[in-house]
Amino acid sequence: MSSLFLERLGVTQPLVLAPMSGASTPALVAAVSSAGGLGSHGAGYLAPQAILDDAAKIRALTDRPFALNLFVLPDDFHEDEPAIDFARATLDTLMEREGLAIRSSLPERWAPRFSDQFAALCEARPAVASFTFNLLTPAQLRELKRRGITVVGTATSVAEARAWAELGADAVSLQGAEAGGHRGTFLHEPEEAMIGLFALLPLAARAVDIPLIAGGGIMDGRGMLAAELLGATVSQLGTAFLACPESSAAQAWKQDLAQADDVRITTIRSFSGRAARGLRNHYVEAMKPYEARLPAYPVMNALTAPLRRAAAAAGRGDLISEWCGQAATLSRPMPAAALVTTLLQEYAQARHRLA
Ligand SMILES: Cc1cc2nc3c(=O)[nH]c(=O)nc-3n(C[C@H](O)[C@H](O)[C@H](O)COP(=O)(O)O)c2cc1C
Repeated sequence: MSSLFLERLGVTQPLVLAPMSGASTPALVAAVSSAGGLGSHGAGYLAPQAILDDAAKIRALTDRPFALNLFVLPDDFHEDEPAIDFARATLDTLMEREGLAIRSSLPERWAPRFSDQFAALCEARPAVASFTFNLLTPAQLRELKRRGITVVGTATSVAEARAWAELGADAVSLQGAEAGGHRGTFLHEPEEAMIGLFALLPLAARAVDIPLIAGGGIMDGRGMLAAELLGATVSQLGTAFLACPESSAAQAWKQDLAQADDVRITTIRSFSGRAARGLRNHYVEAMKPYEARLPAYPVMNALTAPLRRAAAAAGRGDLISEWCGQAATLSRPMPAAALVTTLLQEYAQARHRLA
């Protein structure tokens, strides 16, 4: 099944660059795809035209297959006005205290319309489309398949893996609790589905018979082999690529990864209104007491956008969302193509040692 699936993905190596909204760029995606892995572009925050533009940019840089990834969301969102007012007042106080000249504002839309993003993705026709935050509808899945697009769904539990398999996805991307970025959980409360990859992989391998893509805390070739031994067909690495020059993570964020000790990496709701794993920095500490009163995703995400932009421009890593997985200090800042080569060498050596 493994080699057939890799063939289907059009890749020669068992390595997927995780989609990383806020950090992935066409250059990063193309570099990984050109080096034999599958580059994925996190398009969850992008407007439909930007999805089409980025797909064209990737195609201009590589003729290898790549993946586009979206957040499955409703087209319209609940607006909890008291929570919005509270969040704005809290953010404004924080920004004033921290000496940032910007203040919160109400955006035109809280997030791009998912149905428009989905239509753009279909038009862009990547080899692979991956999804997180929820299931697709059967009609959406059929539409992707009609266009010959391989469909991958994200799961953080056995039940979610089963749900994607029953829907007809081609593969499941398992997101262990170690993983950086937003939790993809959709059938449970996020804190209930914090299952480590070492437990989740063999459990899911027993429950579903479609290929498994393993993500969460994998930073080198040894980790890739370990995931394979536990039932994965391919490893998906995100944090390992954050410090690459092709990643658009803010400079301060890239630098802070080196000091992101395991105990400083936590789940955070205060940046976006949805649980996500990242560095416990000054913003996270300051907003912790208010987390329960803040609006849900994507409203909170839109409200913190001006602050995050201003803080990044001012080099204030302590005020931005520094998403990363639990093994972030193992990251190696080097060009993405060199990192792919290093990972694949380590993977081959680990296989050899085991044999
Ligand atoms: C900065 C960042 C952004 C992310 N954005 C997305 C995203 O847009 N879509 C998605 O499915 N997963 C996203 N993830 C989660 C990854 O797909 C993956 O689960 C995770 O990176 C794997 O764990 P690792 O970071 O320890 O390698 C993101 C992760 C990071 C670190």
